[in-house]
Amino acid sequence: MPVLSPSVSQIGASPASILRRRARELREAGRDIIELSSGNLDFATPEHVVAAAHAAALRGETRYTDVDGTPELKAAVRAALQRHNHLTYAQDEVVICNGSTQALFNALLATVAQGDEVIVPAPYWAPYLDQVRLTGGTPVIVPCPQNNGFKLRPSDLRAAITARTRWLIINNPVNPSGAVYSPAELSDIAAVLLQHPDIWILADGLYEHIVFDGLHAPTLAEIEPRLKLRTLTVSGVAKAYAMMGWRIGYAAGPAALIRAMINIQSQTTSCASSISQAAAVAALSGPQDLLHERASILRTKRDLFAGILNGCAGLSCELPEGTFYLLVCCAGVIGKRATDGREIRTDRDFAAYLLEHADVAVFPGEDFGLSPYIRVSFANAPPTIEEAGRRLKRACAALQ
Ligand SMILES: Cc1ncc(COP(=O)(O)O)c(C=O)c1O
Repeated sequence: MPVLSPSVSQIGASPASILRRRARELREAGRDIIELSSGNLDFATPEHVVAAAHAAALRGETRYTDVDGTPELKAAVRAALQRHNHLTYAQDEVVICNGSTQALFNALLATVAQGDEVIVPAPYWAPYLDQVRLTGGTPVIVPCPQNNGFKLRPSDLRAAITARTRWLIINNPVNPSGAVYSPAELSDIAAVLLQHPDIWILADGLYEHIVFDGLHAPTLAEIEPRLKLRTLTVSGVAKAYAMMGWRIGYAAGPAALIRAMINIQSQTTSCASSISQAAAVAALSGPQDLLHERASILRTKRDLFAGILNGCAGLSCELPEGTFYLLVCCAGVIGKRATDGREIRTDRDFAAYLLEHADVAVFPGEDFGLSPYIRVSFANAPPTIEEAGRRLKRACAALQ
């Protein structure tokens, strides 16, 4: 057995990869599993984006690029940040990474020392925690329950800050709840941060374009320019343009931090894929109407699925303002028993019950730091949503 480092010993495989593997095993055994757990959109990558990748490959853009990304993609990212967030960044204030996952990790690795604390509002995207732990830091989880709209309250942030706090990670819109911070809510959070000049802000806006009813999900630097010098604005093309597998994310922030992140990247993975970078230029610089069109399709699916779920015994959910997830409260099934006598004690038990007895894969809220909930995706075809709804309804009704 290899001896694992202390930081690696603290982390495990991501819940997403474990669930994906189990769903695949069941499928291979002949079961028809509906995956409501996926972070993939069911849209195709736009054709003009695929064509740009193809053309780049044929042109011979198949070599390493600069570690920090091609000048063309960095310019396209800067233009997008200007267009969408009214944020101006110089070329040396932007880095292109292998997905925003890498941007987040490089930033933490560049700044967090043993024992430093990183504030993470819960519910959260689980990798934040293990990324912090890998750097030797300690995640400080701040619960943001449903009666707070699943959002961080300024008073709770203030109470979580200590002399060791290095970062606040703030995700807008929030995976898994779909909550969207308004400009006023972010201003109130900014007011607390202005009193603590040593805290950095990691603003993860990966779902910024999946918002409903004409909403805008702002990022902190746009709301409070005085925080821009210590904010890292992170986003990517994965969710906006259905380019999950192309692995292009980016970060924009102070040049010194960006330089440190580039140094880490140069020694670990080097540049992101040259072909994917060409595709991302086409996505960010091409027609943007599809963002609204796709958000409006997702809104219809949200309404369909939320209606079905609210009709399932023991489940309830509110309509999220963004993302393609519903965080469904399952308090009403906790304490009930399946027909085989097994008690549903936790949301993890409930998710296991749904996978094994209803052929539906969902994430338990525990994986996002808030129980008792399950997270389901509505980025599926309406017939799939309806079939999933029938299975969930039956499974809930069968509990006693
Ligand atoms: C909140 C959040 N941030 C970051 C990521 C990472 O995305 P990617 O590395 O594909 O850009 C995800 C992926 O699902 C996410 O949900």
